[in-house]
Amino acid sequence: MLFLLFFPTGSRAMLPLLVLMLCVNTVLSAMTTDPTLDQHWELWKNRYSKTYNKTEEGWRRMVWEKNLKKIELHNLEHSMGKHSFTLGMNHFGDLTNEEFRQMMNGYKPRAEKKVKGSWFMKPNFLNVPSSVDWRESGYVTPVKYQGGCGSCWAFSATGAMEGQLYRMTGRLVSLSEQNLVDCSRPEGNEGCSGGWMDRAFQYVLDNGGLDSESSYPYMGVDMPCRYDPSYSVISLAGYADVVSGSEVSLMEAVGSVGPVSVAIDAGHTSFQFYQSGIYSEPDCSSLDLDHGVLVVGYGTAQSLLSDANYWIVKNSWGSSWGDNGYIYMSKDNDNNCGIATAASYPLI
Ligand SMILES: *[C@@H]1O[C@H](CO)[C@@H](O)[C@H](O)[C@H]1NC(C)=O
Repeated sequence: MLFLLFFPTGSRAMLPLLVLMLCVNTVLSAMTTDPTLDQHWELWKNRYSKTYNKTEEGWRRMVWEKNLKKIELHNLEHSMGKHSFTLGMNHFGDLTNEEFRQMMNGYKPRAEKKVKGSWFMKPNFLNVPSSVDWRESGYVTPVKYQGGCGSCWAFSATGAMEGQLYRMTGRLVSLSEQNLVDCSRPEGNEGCSGGWMDRAFQYVLDNGGLDSESSYPYMGVDMPCRYDPSYSVISLAGYADVVSGSEVSLMEAVGSVGPVSVAIDAGHTSFQFYQSGIYSEPDCSSLDLDHGVLVVGYGTAQSLLSDANYWIVKNSWGSSWGDNGYIYMSKDNDNNCGIATAASYPLI
């Protein structure tokens, strides 16, 4: 009403002022935090041991609230049948999607041609099962945590090697990611700045071994190579690449060999806050891959409306992320998020 005193209705001067006021109001409301969330915010900070200075606290709180609202909206839509998966607040709650993407620098896309990888050939005497979960057969170590180091490629590679070592020896031994982070630079990996699973396999091949996790524990920072052959628990004969883009070939490899290393596009808000269900992201790329993970099985979820196939994927963000550290990713859905684009596994 105040404006009307100065600008009679119809005055052309009023429009820019109103537009300006609207913008200012928008900015002001975005700057204000919701006091009803104060307690929730304190709980979240405590749970994930977050501490900020005054300036940062205001900013992080706003990012967190925005994420919380996205999560709540998504879950509301899920309850109405719009999505096949739910989201949940987690330790990435104070990161914008841009910051989250910047953290996703672990897998280096578009590697140059490799030297020794061989093509996966389905052994023709094997019938591939319609579903498999290698966790149930003892092939998979507990979910690990890569921390703030871009070493997903090392976790993906150790996961695949742990599976093949179990297959050969019947012993499940956790293998050292730090050994790969520190020592596979000659193969072209870049430690905490990123790398490739095949180059990790190549290192173990070149090096003639890889230390156990217990003898060479994870530090999550780049350090000098301290490989000690007396603690080596595995050696490789080579590694195989699955036919790029073929989910049928990936299924044959996982079904007949064991856990397989894959690279995916994990850069979306939906992935950042994935909690349960079958993940499918229409905005995912099948070519711009930024994260290395491990496929440990696949299956079909029966529902009243339709059956949905999924991959069982082990991540390296701790067991509080996703579904106890895992994500169930849409299978036979046009290679969604590139899961079958750069899959490989080691040969013992
Ligand atoms: C607060 O923390 C942020 C982020 O860590 C930092 O960039 C900034 O300089 C800090 N400000 C003060 C006043 O300490």
